[in-house]
Amino acid sequence: MCGIVGYVGGGAPGARAEGVVMGGLARLEYRGYDSAGIAVVTADDAAVAMRKKAGKLVNLAKELAERPIDHGTAAIGHTRWATHGAPTDANAHPHLAAGGRIAIIHNGIIENFSALRAELEAEGIEFLSETDTEATGHLLAREVETGASLAEAMRTITRRLEGAFTLLAVDAREPRTVVGARRNSPLVVGLGEGENFLGSDVVAFIEHTRTALELEQDEVVEITPEGVTITDRSGHVVEREPYTVDWDASAAQKGGFATFMEKEIHDQPEAVADTLRGRIDEHGKLHLDEGLVHEALLASVDKIIIVACGTASYAGLVGRYAIEHWCRIPVEVELAHEFRYRDPVVNVRTLVVAISQSGETMDTIMAVRHAQRQGAPVIAIVNAQGSTIAREADAVLYTRAGPEIAVASTKAFLAQITATFLLGIYLAELRGNKFPDEIEALLSQLDEIPAKIQRVIDTSEGIREVARSMADERTVLFLGRHVGFPVALEGALKLKELAYIHAEGFAAGELKHGPIALVEPGQPVFIVLPSPRGRESLHAKVISNVQEVRARGARTFVIAEEGDTEAANHAEQVFYVPNAPVLMTPLLQVVPLQIFALELAAAKGYDVDQPRNLAKSVTVE
Ligand code: G6P
Repeated sequence: MCGIVGYVGGGAPGARAEGVVMGGLARLEYRGYDSAGIAVVTADDAAVAMRKKAGKLVNLAKELAERPIDHGTAAIGHTRWATHGAPTDANAHPHLAAGGRIAIIHNGIIENFSALRAELEAEGIEFLSETDTEATGHLLAREVETGASLAEAMRTITRRLEGAFTLLAVDAREPRTVVGARRNSPLVVGLGEGENFLGSDVVAFIEHTRTALELEQDEVVEITPEGVTITDRSGHVVEREPYTVDWDASAAQKGGFATFMEKEIHDQPEAVADTLRGRIDEHGKLHLDEGLVHEALLASVDKIIIVACGTASYAGLVGRYAIEHWCRIPVEVELAHEFRYRDPVVNVRTLVVAISQSGETMDTIMAVRHAQRQGAPVIAIVNAQGSTIAREADAVLYTRAGPEIAVASTKAFLAQITATFLLGIYLAELRGNKFPDEIEALLSQLDEIPAKIQRVIDTSEGIREVARSMADERTVLFLGRHVGFPVALEGALKLKELAYIHAEGFAAGELKHGPIALVEPGQPVFIVLPSPRGRESLHAKVISNVQEVRARGARTFVIAEEGDTEAANHAEQVFYVPNAPVLMTPLLQVVPLQIFALELAAAKGYDVDQPRNLAKSVTVE
């Protein structure tokens, strides 16, 4: 959580430090929007200039318009998702130290901050905020005041910090330098011409450069207009190869849509197509993007555990049906934060698959590390290139959904499901569970999915209309069975996240074991109906569930397959999606539910891109 940007350039007349940092913050606001702040260093001032404001970035922009800052050579900016201390002006970052000479921003949690604070207060230092961050600024000040350079000071103080951090600092005495450090939180370097950038994510600087470098754990980076120096924990200079980001700034913009979420829903056909593209060769072999898990090892694993959080975990649940069916390997899906603490049975014959859009979800990072300590190979299904999970896993299969900016996940979800299918197909080929012609058939069925998703989007007016009529509902229930169950869970989650309406997803078969007591006359219930071409009994059983809730007065809204003539007899309204093989139907069925949540939230006047209390990358446990 929290978005971080740093910039250093040549200074006036081409000075643009403030503009670059504010632009970066605007694109990073998805990481938190409790407050925002900026510190700018000019070549001839003894103190940095700082502005910070509680609330969204627009408040900071207003403040800057009222109290402008002189053009500077270097700047750092922060958009906050509060952990320690309420979202007030005082707790907003940056935090100043050394009488305003030093400014520091932070993403993460300094776990030993209380002890550090006590130590500094005992020396007479006065704290102005309740944050864990402020102590780091004062520690830094103590070092620079004894003559250390900002980079040396950063290396010294990070040794004393426990927990997770990305820290960026500037010092008024070094106006051509920004220094950063990271542990367990992300930091990427952007390489420019006569200017350099730092960001929590490449979107922070993508409009200026697509050449980037990743920082490894416990490294310190110093950027100046002329260059970038990375040093490791012991101060040795580290050489790092830059890479080119494979998408550009336009992919991180709204592209004519009113919101990022609407755009990202429309991006879904492409996200699935790109995730499939060029992945499997003519022999049915899947090419993992990075790293390696030996095929002999993959052929011998006797269990798969998928770890993920939120929407990504529901992608895992869908993947489980496919992988078990195609590969005959038991698959467990576990919330990453629960996995780690239950002493799971994991060993070298367990394949752990970590799914994460951001690749920075701390719960999932910790689950990956736990699995690796037990000797398990880890394959990451990740969207963000070069993210922590991508780097730490043994191998990576990237979902190529492009940047997902709206906090609630949509296109990444579809891309994640697609990636689990690719993994399943690969394992089926490797382990001899499927003949080449069967693999080919699966792949060509997957190839047809993007056009079908497009049709669902193009025919979404009906569900939009229903959504607009439901702005006053207090509870909405979602039912599904087999692969429709995770779709119901995701439909409910989207509604909670975007529209703040109480929503629950249930396995349709579980209804009679309790949840049916919730049904009152008028209660809206969405039902994800299995294909009648799948197991006949499954379709019939869910139809019975629809009847059970209808008999108790529920209003039923059914997602059904085109040609399912039975569906209309049991619903107030049916939303049809194109035919697809049963295991692939979630890629279509979830789309009307995403659109439903989006439209309902918009009807209530909510900010669908930045729902309250949420952050896109949850980098705390
Ligand atoms: C947060 C987001 C969700 C997301 C989850 C997992 O809770 O609000 O949209 O599904 O994190 O994120 P990840 O980046 O690991 O997929």
